[in-house]
Amino acid sequence: MSKTALILNGPNLNMLSVRQPEIYGRQTLGDIEAMAAQKAASLGLVSDFRQSNYEGELIGWLHEARGKIAGVIINGAGLTHTSVALMDALMLMDCPVLEVHLSNIHKREPFRHVSYIAKAATGSIAGFGAHTYILALDALAALLADAPKDK
Ligand code: DQA
Repeated sequence: MSKTALILNGPNLNMLSVRQPEIYGRQTLGDIEAMAAQKAASLGLVSDFRQSNYEGELIGWLHEARGKIAGVIINGAGLTHTSVALMDALMLMDCPVLEVHLSNIHKREPFRHVSYIAKAATGSIAGFGAHTYILALDALAALLADAPKDK
């Protein structure tokens, strides 16, 4: 069975640390990538961590990953609230899909309360800053441990 957690990050997340640090924190995306790699390894998983500012690139990565990975952890960033196409690509996945957000989208502007990704997700975690990714990796490992094993 694949051990890969595909961790996808959407538009503008490459600007973390300079982008509204009071909301998104002072860590860079590289810092989060390093934390996720370490956490994944501690759970016996491998983190494949990517970021794109392009909806189509994120969708292409999901198509390529079908049947090959243990789970998807996705921070769709702004696309969370707009992209039916990204939701449709997530619906195609044959593995757990975990939605993550650094900020608590539910206590922000009303337009952030709508998540198309949530409709395709196994579950969602929001509001714990960079630690959200760590919580999602723990949740993915728990889901995989509970899943029926192939004989
Ligand atoms: C975000 C929340 C989104 O509303 C926003 O557009 C982002 C980041 C988060 O991680 O808190 O880009 O997904």
